[in-house]
Amino acid sequence: MKNLYIVANWKENKSLRETNEWINAFVISDIDLTNKQVIVCPPFTLLGFLKSKIVEKNLPVKIGAQDISRLEEGSYTGEISARQAKDYADFVIIGHSERRTNFGEDEGVISEKLEMANKAGLNSILCVSSLDQISNQKSFILNSGGDITIAYEPLSAIGSGNPDTPKNADDMAKKIKEELGSIKVLYGGSVSFENVNSFTLMPNIDGVLVGHESLDPLEFSKIVKNA
Ligand code: PGA
Repeated sequence: MKNLYIVANWKENKSLRETNEWINAFVISDIDLTNKQVIVCPPFTLLGFLKSKIVEKNLPVKIGAQDISRLEEGSYTGEISARQAKDYADFVIIGHSERRTNFGEDEGVISEKLEMANKAGLNSILCVSSLDQISNQKSFILNSGGDITIAYEPLSAIGSGNPDTPKNADDMAKKIKEELGSIKVLYGGSVSFENVNSFTLMPNIDGVLVGHESLDPLEFSKIVKNA
């Protein structure tokens, strides 16, 4: 049985009160998690609170940040370093298409962030929408010695309710593995509890990155269950 990552990406959503409600309603104690690792990536403001709740409730959930600074700590107003994120998180999402598009993150910035994550001991979840984006980071990934997971997210599938076909997603995951060797490849883009296992049953897909449907704790627990 392969090991799956089921990753929630909350994006720019949720207050403290809403996070408290989410965590109280997120019940996974009846789910067999033998081969499933749940990872929740809230905004930076919620990392500490979510971590304390996970510890208090003894939940088998790991925390991820959604981004980190490309720079070491210092005079960079508004930034959060990899080392600071590591106080709370084991994972970090890097190069999400929303950051590439809305915040001008190019391949240079993405490699700097991958390097920062690596140095701080954060496991990177590198989001890509094409094989070109893999080629750009290939030498770093192969030489990093760090723990990097790829999330393949076709642009047309993100937030559209129109997921890729499992066959296409699996073909892409296979090509990524041919390029990079042994690496986990997740699928992301309009994953729901109804379609999640059509992806996780594919031979080359090692989990899912879930945006919108992770905001509702009941929907997300059904995704964890069905994966
Ligand atoms: P979505 O987002 O599940 O809302 O399509 C996925 C993502 O952007 O990671």
